[in-house]
Amino acid sequence: MCGIVGAISNRDVTPILVDGLKRLEYRGYDSAGLAVVDAQQSLDLKRSVGRVANLEKICSDVTGTIGVAHTRWATHGRPAQRNAHPHTSSSQVAVVHNGIIENHQELRASQKAAGFVFSSETDTEVIVHQIDWHMQQGAGLFKAVQKTVGELEGAYGLGVVSKQQPDLLVAARSGSPLLIGLGEGENFIASDMSALIPVAQKYIVLEDGDLAKITSNSVEVFDSNGQAVEREIRTSTLSDDETELGGFAHFMKKEIHEQTRAITETLEGRLGANNVLELPFGENAREIFDNTKELKIVACGTSFYAASVARYWFEEFGIKCDVEIASEYRYRKHVVNPGTLFMTISQSGETLDTMAALEMAKTLGYSNTLCVCNVPESSLVRASDLTIFTHAGREIGVASTKAFTTQLVTLLLIAVCLRRRMQGDGRRIDDMESEIVRELRTLPQQIDNVIELEEQIIAMSKHFGNKEHALFLGRGAHFPIAMEGALKLKEISYIHAEAYAAGELKHGPLALIDEDMPVVAVAPNDELLEKLKSNLEEVRARGGKLFVFADEESGLQSDDETMVLNVAPVHNHIAPILYVVPLQLLAYHVALIKGTDIDKPRNLAKSVTVE
Ligand code: G6P
Repeated sequence: MCGIVGAISNRDVTPILVDGLKRLEYRGYDSAGLAVVDAQQSLDLKRSVGRVANLEKICSDVTGTIGVAHTRWATHGRPAQRNAHPHTSSSQVAVVHNGIIENHQELRASQKAAGFVFSSETDTEVIVHQIDWHMQQGAGLFKAVQKTVGELEGAYGLGVVSKQQPDLLVAARSGSPLLIGLGEGENFIASDMSALIPVAQKYIVLEDGDLAKITSNSVEVFDSNGQAVEREIRTSTLSDDETELGGFAHFMKKEIHEQTRAITETLEGRLGANNVLELPFGENAREIFDNTKELKIVACGTSFYAASVARYWFEEFGIKCDVEIASEYRYRKHVVNPGTLFMTISQSGETLDTMAALEMAKTLGYSNTLCVCNVPESSLVRASDLTIFTHAGREIGVASTKAFTTQLVTLLLIAVCLRRRMQGDGRRIDDMESEIVRELRTLPQQIDNVIELEEQIIAMSKHFGNKEHALFLGRGAHFPIAMEGALKLKEISYIHAEAYAAGELKHGPLALIDEDMPVVAVAPNDELLEKLKSNLEEVRARGGKLFVFADEESGLQSDDETMVLNVAPVHNHIAPILYVVPLQLLAYHVALIKGTDIDKPRNLAKSVTVE
């Protein structure tokens, strides 16, 4: 989703801005632009549709010591050069903006009446005209931005420059993440630290309502009351290694293969000889678990499917668990039982709907808030009582893979901790816990074994290249795994894919079955296997083509209508974590055949910071 970079220095900032935008490409975008104040004190504005590489081509003659840059993901107004950021007013001021201004229509009407001419359909353009207007009334740049943000409703992360004050970069944040990177004789702004890896390790995260005055050698932060405030200086641990392909054709493929290591790191330090340790989760983890009688989990996208799998674990262990999509949760009324832990799951920690759901939940009487997240510096982490990190490492492919499996591992660990409390005093370790711990230790090796099936999955993928639709089936905890498999396929291959709980086939989707509708099923050797086999027979009887990932002891065999790919036997609890991997690989290889942009699928974003 939209990305911001800004810089003020004694050297030319254009290469820093372009490099920063390239580093934000993983977030997803449709156009890019930058504005730099040059030596003649004029604003040089360049914008283009498509890749940052297109922008770079038209920036070779741009130089200056202060500037802002942006990758845009369209919300108001289609992807077009005129809608790309930065937006300018009277060639005086340039603004880059993440977020959505909700009162843009009212502001637009009054600005038009005041004589401002609009050149885009964006909500952002009202911000830059409003700043310009305040400057025309005599305000300096900082004061003009301060007055303007007081008039905005909605969410914003802003970077502002003006040719009238070429030694000042102004930043403001409310609802959309923004941070300040601290360099030597130069300072920066960015929507996430990955944009600044080569230029800054130290950084400040702006809080909601903050404004900052940034020069090449000073940073002053003010809160929403205009009071000067000190914000903690943090040190980033990001490095370039994580953002390089390392011999893989795509980040998605690299990240699928990294799951072995990512799961190992997620488990590291959290397992005792035969139990799950609680202390590594944080000092307050034990108390929060003690307070928990039931769970409400809220998330979006793939993280929602992780929550949906975990619900099977929690309820099997006797913990009532309700799971909901964040964008739905935040717009309805709730009944909260005492002792309910509110849990969010998010790879990025920045998903706006999840964040808004958390803010709302805090007013509703939940016992505590817990976030399962992959990004330490993120908004959800800062807003939660406790965060349990997934140690997936940075995920760049828009289609989530290692973030999902590490979320599942983390959720299973949490489920085991809560289970102990359902079994007794929360301290006693029983056989089932020891068994789960043993199985978790084998999981990285088992993931490796599944990845070794890749050649067979490639053979399977050839049956999908010319298809327009696909059905995914699963039962129990493998129903959300089927949903995640369908999501992967549709995200990156653009094949319409839907998932069904296999028992629901006869209530509608059976009508769709013919030889053009491949049906993918996950068939672990669990208590629902025989039921699933009957569902698969319903498909075969109607001429459907089946592609089944099955436990090698399931008894399912390949024939003319059915392609069975055998998976080694696996313990029931960890089976969902394993069975999603072949579905990720299947989606990847189908997308490869279709020639799509696998790491940056059309219209999608990695970090969704708008509603
Ligand atoms: C976007 C991403 C998905 C992700 C979802 C939720 O749609 O493309 O991969 O699952 O957002 O993101 P989160 O960061 O909250 O897990």
